[in-house]
Amino acid sequence: MLKITDLECGYGRMKVLQSVSLEVGAESVGLFGPNGAGKTTLIGAVMGLNKVWSGVIEFDGKRVEGVDTHLMARMGVALVPQERELFPGMSVHDNLVLGAAYIPHAKDRIPDQMEKVFALFPILKERSKQLAGTMSGGQQRMVAIGRALMSNPKLLILDEPSLGLQPSIVSEVFEVLKELKKTVSILVTEQNVRESLRAIDRGYVLENGKIVIQDTAQGLKTNPYVLKSYLGI
Ligand SMILES: Nc1ncnc2c1ncn2[C@@H]1O[C@H](COP(=O)(O)OP(=O)(O)O)[C@@H](O)[C@H]1O
Ligand SMILES: [Mg+2]
Repeated sequence: MLKITDLECGYGRMKVLQSVSLEVGAESVGLFGPNGAGKTTLIGAVMGLNKVWSGVIEFDGKRVEGVDTHLMARMGVALVPQERELFPGMSVHDNLVLGAAYIPHAKDRIPDQMEKVFALFPILKERSKQLAGTMSGGQQRMVAIGRALMSNPKLLILDEPSLGLQPSIVSEVFEVLKELKKTVSILVTEQNVRESLRAIDRGYVLENGKIVIQDTAQGLKTNPYVLKSYLGI
């Protein structure tokens, strides 16, 4: 589905990603690493937001380096960005509709997709007329994830979905991802490795722009370095 090979990119003259290779098939994959490791930079490169210096990015067998964000969306990649970018003055319903409105294969199926989103997040159905900006942080995160799902993506990318949420909501978000991974491929970046592990099949650890570990969720759970540096054991 997504295959990244020897990706290098950065800002100005500062190289951030150093020969990063990563793959996401029909599965859920974590990209872990501390603040500043380069997680958002990698996602920006995939989504056509950051210029690729060298390396190859393939989606569904096609090379997509430098392909525009809206074309990536049409190809079936949906992003829940680190900055959520909801429209706070619009209702939940209208924010959700926007997730599908510009995607040809999704815009004819808006009611169906919305029912699926409401099944995952019943609170959004109850609050569908409420202005997004007046919802709690956790509910706004659900709207952001729901909006991405409205495009009926093949690959859902989430950039630090747990950031700034209280623990009970974090658990809820990862429970939803665990459910979602049955039907959509997922790439999720996180600093919260502990909570993510239940929702991923495999994961990569990115430090200073380099992949330092890649393993199954089970392997990561028992990796001494991961235990010490990310799980605090
Ligand atoms: N727009 C930008 N301009 C210049 N440097 C940036 C920009 N965005 C990120 N960086 C730098 O790139 C590095 C990786 O950042 P980022 O990809 O945001 O890491 P992460 O998402 O893992 O926290 C950091 O050193 C950060 O300061
Ligand atoms: Mg980031």
